[in-house]
Amino acid sequence: MPLGADPDLLASLRADLDAARYTVEGLEAAWGPVAAEALGRDDPVPALLELARREPSPAGVLGALFVLGADRPADQVDRALPGTGTVGAERLGLIRLADGVARALVDLRPYALADESGVAAWWIASDPGEMALGGELPEEHVLGAGAASGTLAQILVGTGTGSVLDLGTGSGVQGLIAARSASRVVATDVSARALEFARLNAALNGVALDLREGSLYEPVAGERFDRIVTNPPFVITPRGADGVPAYTYRDGGFAGDGLVEALVRGAADHLAPGGVAQLLGNWEVRGDLDAARQRVLDWAGPLDVWVVERDLLDPAQYAETWVRDGGAQPGTARYRSLVRAWLEDFAARGVTAIGAGYVTLRAPRGTATLRRFEHLDGAVGSGIGAAIEAGLAAHDLQRALPDDALADTVLVVAPDVTEHRHYWPGDADPTVIELRQGTGFARVRRVDTVAAAVVGACDGELPVGAIADAVARLLDADPDDTRAAVLPVVRELWFEGFLALG
Ligand SMILES: C[S@@+](CC[C@H](N)C(=O)[O-])C[C@H]1O[C@@H](n2cnc3c(N)ncnc32)[C@H](O)[C@@H]1O
Repeated sequence: MPLGADPDLLASLRADLDAARYTVEGLEAAWGPVAAEALGRDDPVPALLELARREPSPAGVLGALFVLGADRPADQVDRALPGTGTVGAERLGLIRLADGVARALVDLRPYALADESGVAAWWIASDPGEMALGGELPEEHVLGAGAASGTLAQILVGTGTGSVLDLGTGSGVQGLIAARSASRVVATDVSARALEFARLNAALNGVALDLREGSLYEPVAGERFDRIVTNPPFVITPRGADGVPAYTYRDGGFAGDGLVEALVRGAADHLAPGGVAQLLGNWEVRGDLDAARQRVLDWAGPLDVWVVERDLLDPAQYAETWVRDGGAQPGTARYRSLVRAWLEDFAARGVTAIGAGYVTLRAPRGTATLRRFEHLDGAVGSGIGAAIEAGLAAHDLQRALPDDALADTVLVVAPDVTEHRHYWPGDADPTVIELRQGTGFARVRRVDTVAAAVVGACDGELPVGAIADAVARLLDADPDDTRAAVLPVVRELWFEGFLALG
């Protein structure tokens, strides 16, 4: 029987999980904050020790079984799932019973999210991970809601009430997120097993997803969406090398960064006018950095495109990361042969670095006007989705504003911006002035005295041009030169969210 195919049993399971307080907080309470931190590093030992010290609680029993992958006596599991029982859980395909002991066949854990659309909590089932398996993952492994799922969720612009395509849905998590407001969510995957999990998770959480099997945009040929979200299998993987595993969850089977290219190129045929596609991706740098960036921008064709590169790895760092991710251990012969396969593959294409980050695409109502690639590493704050949305809106507003109209515009400093001045000891004038954001991309922007003074005076009273003129008078500078110098900076600061419309 397919996973979770019995609706009545699923309803019981849902009630049991609720009653067990099987939530993110409930699990943390079951094994404590130190064990929760250790689990974040894939170390189950503190949680197992802590659970052994305590009276078994329903959340603790379920967490041991479904998160840590530890066998549990059937009678304990029966008490933790009083409505479903171990027999029901086995019928749903979640556990196997043998000699009075229950063993999990899936990972099933709570997932919580807080964003502009509110707070949400679900249960997500997926294949057991490396920690539960204690070894390398099988190639057909279906991923749960991991770090990359969270990253994509964080950068999404408001979904609105339109239609959403979640391409490569895996466990269905992005579909669940989108379904909170979207009128229709189509979730696709090339893996039938992933779709089984997505179906189970949608039903368990009472969410309607239109699930379709197929590669890339095949299942939605001829259809357009207001939003496309995808955390695709972007990991660049050597093709044709002996012993290199082809994990469906991270490798789409293309050479180099071909999968990300195909996704970006294909978006134009599937976005409704004004629609936005957002994806995580990796891209190759073959020598020249500027050419590599232009190459990614060119994939967007007729769409507006904004690439935020969050990391730039050398080939060895990249290979090590992804060889370890599959479970191969440093120091073993297998690890070394896999790293070699990755490095030879990169060398064959002249790859000198690999970029990683987010791509936002938008179907313009006329011709595309936004072509932006920026490298932004370091910590980011909350509200990146809102920052991207505000950047797109600022871009559109600014396009209609030649410099003289911009000079007549009233702007305000965003509430999360602070100014930082750095001085040589004893000097009266600062050597460096920085504007810093407390939220969104948490940008740090170096500005000169004039720009700092103009920004500082943007309090919603005077238009930017009048402020620039006043600053010029104060500094005994030419007003036209001051405007010419400061207006492009104002445009950029507005796009970046330091300034907003007053
Ligand atoms: C990194 S997982 C993302 C899962 C989920 N969307 C998330 O955010 O956690 C990538 C998913 O893409 C699927 N996939 C792999 N190749 C694909 C292809 N050619 N077309 C569509 N989906 C594909 C995998 O099966 C996997 O479920």
